[in-house]
Amino acid sequence: MADDQRPSGAVQSILELSAFNPVARENPHPMLKSMREDCPVFRDEAAKVWLLSRYRDVRETVNDRSFVRHPTKAEEGSLSARFVEQREDRGTSILFLDDPDHARIRQPLAKAFYARINAMRPQIEAMIDDIIDKAPVSGTFDLMAEIAVPVPVMVIARILGVDEDRLDDFRQWSEEVILGLNPVRTPEEDEALLHGAYALDAYFVELMEARRKAPQDDLVSDMVQLQASGEADISDGELRNNLEALLVGGNLTTTDLIGNGVWLFLTNPGQLVTFRDNPGLASAAVEEVLRFEAPVSITSRILPDDREVGGCPMKARQPVWMSLAGANRDPDVFEAPEVFDITHKRASHVAFGGGPHICIGAPLARIEARHVYLKLFERYPNLKLAEQELSWRSLPFFRGLERLQVEA
Ligand code: HEM
Repeated sequence: MADDQRPSGAVQSILELSAFNPVARENPHPMLKSMREDCPVFRDEAAKVWLLSRYRDVRETVNDRSFVRHPTKAEEGSLSARFVEQREDRGTSILFLDDPDHARIRQPLAKAFYARINAMRPQIEAMIDDIIDKAPVSGTFDLMAEIAVPVPVMVIARILGVDEDRLDDFRQWSEEVILGLNPVRTPEEDEALLHGAYALDAYFVELMEARRKAPQDDLVSDMVQLQASGEADISDGELRNNLEALLVGGNLTTTDLIGNGVWLFLTNPGQLVTFRDNPGLASAAVEEVLRFEAPVSITSRILPDDREVGGCPMKARQPVWMSLAGANRDPDVFEAPEVFDITHKRASHVAFGGGPHICIGAPLARIEARHVYLKLFERYPNLKLAEQELSWRSLPFFRGLERLQVEA
């Protein structure tokens, strides 16, 4: 769309809709609403990407298997072309792969991962109970530091099979590699990121070797056995990369699902009463938190050919970015979209994307969040927000709180 066709005050760049912009960081939804209404198929010329914000366009695009993802298939100089992974020995994470490689890696990994999650559900829930039981009994504490941050990292460590005596290291590496999600890093953060990435990779080399010799009851053992039997045609580097992707993709996102949910309940006390009276609504509550305050705001695809999307002509190699947060509040699909209501039957949200790349960790994130909400509000019958200046993280395209001070 040419500049003179843009509604006045309209955004010029997709970064303005992200947590980089203090206004969007505080509350992105009014900006996303204007976008959906005034310019639902938006062109960011500087980033060389399109942005869709209507539910139907987003749903159709994520589900369409003809779109591609690998950064080398994106127009040169575009934002999507910048995600090329550096280390050739490790292949590429499934997030950026296309078939046949995507299916070759994702299918056996997903099968083994889901079997693990199912088998370990009681253990996962017991770990969550343990973390919540260790949080302060009374007084004020930071829910993010005490509960929302440790839950996903401890759970994924147990699923993968990280040894007990390496858990503290694993937590530290995990925090360091997550710095990679922030495109604006200090030199110290760059150093920490590099340290974490290499230490984690070296540990996975060690862990895979150990499990080959003596398999245990964990995902790393499952995967090296599938490799050995020929059922999984995945190289060691690819396996390390994709096991590490479970850590990077799953930690901050699930932390935010927990934090955003607790914040939504504490700021909507009527909904909390409904939840306490009807614990059977726990799964519906998780879906409503995901819809209302999606932890990941955006995903993307790349056009394989010239075609029309959302009624606009587009060219091959142009990246199509999609506002998941915008789509999730589209009034054409969701009645009273600006109301957080766990009892409302709604269409399915797009917080986990869709189609071939739909979040592989969605079942795990759902189990964790559901159990945290249930256990937390049971353990703390009078939980409320403490006096505080709320601060949302400044990581672009993620939505989560830095701290959440609560009073038990
Ligand atoms: C609330 C928590 C989470 C949210 C909101 C979330 C969101 C997303 C989104 C939006 C995508 C891209 C989907 C698409 O483009 O269609 C994705 C992909 C992915 N997620 Fe998650 N995620 C969450 C938790 C997790 C967890 C717990 C894990 C792993 C343990 C995980 C691992 C991944 C991986 C590996 C991919 C790439 C899948 C592929 O491209 O085939 N995520 N996630």
